[in-house]
Amino acid sequence: MDQQHGTGFVIWLTGMAGAGKTTLANQLGKRFAGAGRPAEVMDGDAVNELLTRGLGVTKEDRDTSVRRLGYVSRMLVRHGAIVVVASLSPFREAREAVRREVRRFVEVFVDAPMETLLARDTEGMYRKALAHELTNVAGIDDPYEPPAHAEIVVRTDLEKPDAALGRLFQKLVDMKYVTPAEFALLTGGQRPRKGAAKPPKKGAAPAAAKGAAPVKGAKASKPAKGKRAAKGKRG
Ligand SMILES: Nc1ncnc2c1ncn2[C@@H]1O[C@H](COP(=O)(O)OP(=O)(O)O)[C@@H](O)[C@H]1O
Ligand SMILES: [Mg+2]
Repeated sequence: MDQQHGTGFVIWLTGMAGAGKTTLANQLGKRFAGAGRPAEVMDGDAVNELLTRGLGVTKEDRDTSVRRLGYVSRMLVRHGAIVVVASLSPFREAREAVRREVRRFVEVFVDAPMETLLARDTEGMYRKALAHELTNVAGIDDPYEPPAHAEIVVRTDLEKPDAALGRLFQKLVDMKYVTPAEFALLTGGQRPRKGAAKPPKKGAAPAAAKGAAPVKGAKASKPAKGKRAAKGKRG
């Protein structure tokens, strides 16, 4: 028998550092709380996240991080909770494993072109990576595998958080995870559209994904002596 409660689900935000995952996760947390359906927000890339603390940037550690976040998500979702996870989670197979386990899984690809990520680069991580001063940066010298079947793609260079949230809430109505009444509470009184959500706009194809591998000056080099690995920084 299906053990799942029927009302819980996980919104999994994946994307390169600086794409806007934390921003969207926090806003989602606020909206769900305001609508009377508090959500558990877990930011896997935050230093205060106990589940992922101490893990580094090797493939193994990144996948362990995803597995742990997925494990806790599954337990919460099973009991009807809404869970929002922000996690760089660069490897497709690890995310797909969580999807299979949780089942009620809404994958959000938070995407922006490399140009935008470089302009944002709050901690100078990409700048250092491109100068070969930092290694194991996802999307530069380490892979970032964009989702093949994300429920929603958000291009944060083109779309404000509010608009992205509106589309996501519509998707949740289409998937029957959120009722039209809840949609109204989440969106400040709007009514959901009937029928399936519109397909993504033309030209809103994955951006970082394309820009990720062939960044100028960024070679898929092995960590060399004297170079710092982006350890501890999963962002
Ligand atoms: N939709 C957006 N439009 C414009 N700027 C954004 C958007 N989302 C995030 N940002 C900005 O980009 C930077 C990185 O966002 P953050 O949420 O920390 O990314 P991540 O968690 O994916 O590393 C922040 O300065 C944030 O204000
Ligand atoms: Mg973040």
